[in-house]
Amino acid sequence: MKNYELRSDTFTKPAEAMRKAIYNAEVGDDVYAEDPSVNRLQDLSSEITGKEASLYVPSGSMANLIALYILGGRGNEVLMHEQAHTIHHEVGGAAAIAGCMPISVPGDRGVMKRSLMEPMVKKDDYDIAHTTLIEIENTHNFAGGTCWKKDDLKEVRSFADDNSLKIHMDGARLFNAVTATGMSAAEISSYTDSVTFCLSKGLGAPMGSMLCGDKEYIARAKVIRKMLGGGMRQAGIAAAAGIYALENNIFRLKEDHDNCRKLAETLNSLSWASVDLDKVETNIVFAYTEPGKAASINEKMAERGIRAIATASNEIRFVTSLMISAQEIDQVCEILKDL
Ligand SMILES: Cc1ncc(COP(=O)(O)O)c(C=O)c1O
Repeated sequence: MKNYELRSDTFTKPAEAMRKAIYNAEVGDDVYAEDPSVNRLQDLSSEITGKEASLYVPSGSMANLIALYILGGRGNEVLMHEQAHTIHHEVGGAAAIAGCMPISVPGDRGVMKRSLMEPMVKKDDYDIAHTTLIEIENTHNFAGGTCWKKDDLKEVRSFADDNSLKIHMDGARLFNAVTATGMSAAEISSYTDSVTFCLSKGLGAPMGSMLCGDKEYIARAKVIRKMLGGGMRQAGIAAAAGIYALENNIFRLKEDHDNCRKLAETLNSLSWASVDLDKVETNIVFAYTEPGKAASINEKMAERGIRAIATASNEIRFVTSLMISAQEIDQVCEILKDL
C-alpha cells in the first residue's frame, strides 16, 4: 500500500541532489570554527535574515532554548502565545534549563496583541519576576501554520520597545511565512532581536536550525550551545544539506501551500470534517471532527495509507511537504471522499 506522509514536514527526507552535496561536503572542526561548510551556511543565513551573525545548532528546540537562556534569563518571565511550541512541545526546557517562566498570552491565529500583553508585563518590584522577552512563533504551528502580518510585527516591536523587552522569533517555518506573505526573511526578522529557522522541516535537510542575531549575542550563543552539548565537530556533513536547502528548496514551498489548500477544501467538503479555510495560509491544516472521533478517523485513514496526527479528541493535523506531490494530494483527496 502507498503511504501518504502528512504527519509533519519533519518527515522530509534528503533528495538525491542533497545527498550528493552531503557526500561532497568540505569539513573541519566546527567547535574551532574551522568547518568551511558550517561557516558558509552561517554567512548565508546572516545574509538571508539581515542579521550580523548566525550559529548552526542541532535543532529548533535548542535554538529556542539558547535564546531564552540569553535573552530571557533565569527567574524572568517570557511572554509567548498560549499554543506556543516552546510551551507545549519542548519538554519544559524553558523552565528546566533556561530557568524562565513562560507566560501564556491568548491570541487569534497565534498573534499576540498589545492590549492582551500590556497587563502581563511585570517590572520594578522586588517581589515579582520581571518580564524580559517576548517570543513569537512565525508561522504558528498549532494555530494552523498562520503568519504574522506586517502590522502585527510592527505592533509587537513597538510594544517591546515601549517596555524595554527583547523579541525572539521561533521561525521554525520562517520561509513558509516568507512564501505566504511576500515579505522577505530579512524584513520579517528586522522586527526581532533574535530569529531561528529550521532546515529540517519544509526545507528538507536531515537536521539543524540556524540562530541569528547581533555579533555579541551569537558569540554568547556559541558558548551556551557548547554548554548544552550542542558543539559539533565535522558538522559540515549536515551543514552542506542546509546550504543545499536554502539554495534550492525555498522556492518550491508554494507547491506545499497549494497542496495544503486543496486538501483543506476537500476536507471541508466532507460530512465528518470541518476546516476554518481562512486560517489555511501555509502548509498546515487542522480538520475538526465530532469530539472523541479524531483518533478512530485517523486510524481509518491510516488503513488507506494516509498518515496524519490526531492532535486532540476532535482535531486532526495534516502537514504538506516535499514528501507529497500535487498528484498524490489528488489521490489523498479521492481516498478521503471514499472513506
Ligand atoms: C514551531 C516550532 N518550533 C520549534 C520546533 C522544534 O524544532 P526541532 O524539532 O528541530 O527541535 C518545532 C518542531 O516541530 C516547531 O514546529
